[in-house]
Amino acid sequence: VTHAKPIIIEDLETDERQLNHNRNNSTFVAKSLLGVPLIYKGKVIGVLEAINKRIGKFSIEDQELLLILGSQAAVAIQNARFFAQSDLISEFVHELRTPLASLNTAANLLLKNDINSNKKNALVEVIQQETSRLSSLATAFLDISRLESGRSQFQFQNIGLSGLLNECVCLMQTQADQAGLSLKLFLPKSNPIFRGDPNKLKQAIINLLSNAIKYNRPNGEIVLNTQIENNTLRLRIIDNGIGIPQDHIDQLFTKYYRVPGSDQVAQGTGLGLVIVKRIIEGHGGDITVSSQPGEGTIFTITLPLIPE
Ligand SMILES: Nc1ncnc2c1ncn2[C@@H]1O[C@H](COP(=O)(O)OP(=O)(O)O)[C@@H](O)[C@H]1O
Ligand SMILES: [Mg+2]
Repeated sequence: VTHAKPIIIEDLETDERQLNHNRNNSTFVAKSLLGVPLIYKGKVIGVLEAINKRIGKFSIEDQELLLILGSQAAVAIQNARFFAQSDLISEFVHELRTPLASLNTAANLLLKNDINSNKKNALVEVIQQETSRLSSLATAFLDISRLESGRSQFQFQNIGLSGLLNECVCLMQTQADQAGLSLKLFLPKSNPIFRGDPNKLKQAIINLLSNAIKYNRPNGEIVLNTQIENNTLRLRIIDNGIGIPQDHIDQLFTKYYRVPGSDQVAQGTGLGLVIVKRIIEGHGGDITVSSQPGEGTIFTITLPLIPE
């Protein structure tokens, strides 16, 4: 179907393409299948499937009917996505207002002749901070809009777990050292190879490690812990930093949300966790958080280890 052609499979059990492996977490059993591509402007944006015809086999007529339905569905889906995108853009523009206003104020103050050099330096620092904030916002916004519009395709390939996690820790080690924090990685005895997008997974894990570093305390600790059970990987990012009050936990994965007071602790956009969640869900996994203010935070990623 990814090649924009319909497909009929009469017996999924024996089909070597193993299209059933994605469904094994439900009790539903698919026997026969008719799939048609959802095409919008010549691009495949999804698949519409009919499963288990009650009487007889899927026919060419069935296929024609589903193709017509599919072409309508593709337009409807794309329209819904455009709507979602316009919401995304208006939220983004709204978020731009605060840093832009600060920049404007700082620039106006700098233009006055009667300011001393201390004040001048402070204003230049404001300009530096706000421009770096704008640049992070722009990068994160692009990531999210690509993930949400489906334009960012996941590049699935075989990944070795140890290699992936070692790389993440390596990349964040300097930052942890500079903040005076210890960063430890505990790998499982086995090194499972699984299917995933290594760059996206790296981005997700680095985002979480970067939070664990930013919202920590002097001499704090960060642990990246792994556990494998029944082809499921449980990855825990544990810190003993400032923690998150219970009544803010629910909103952590909301766009632009930052726990009040975070501005004083570290710079941020409130988009990191949204990106992380999208990436993990794109791998069929999920992410949860538990935290104790003043004691620390644990983010837990659960990821099905899709075999090679
Ligand atoms: N490990 C953590 N410890 C304490 N607070 C955290 C942690 N991770 C995230 N947070 C809180 O969740 C908010 C959202 O995180 P995130 O989406 O990564 O945005 P950002 O880090 O850019 O502010 C942060 O602003 C912070 O208030
Ligand atoms: Mg963050």
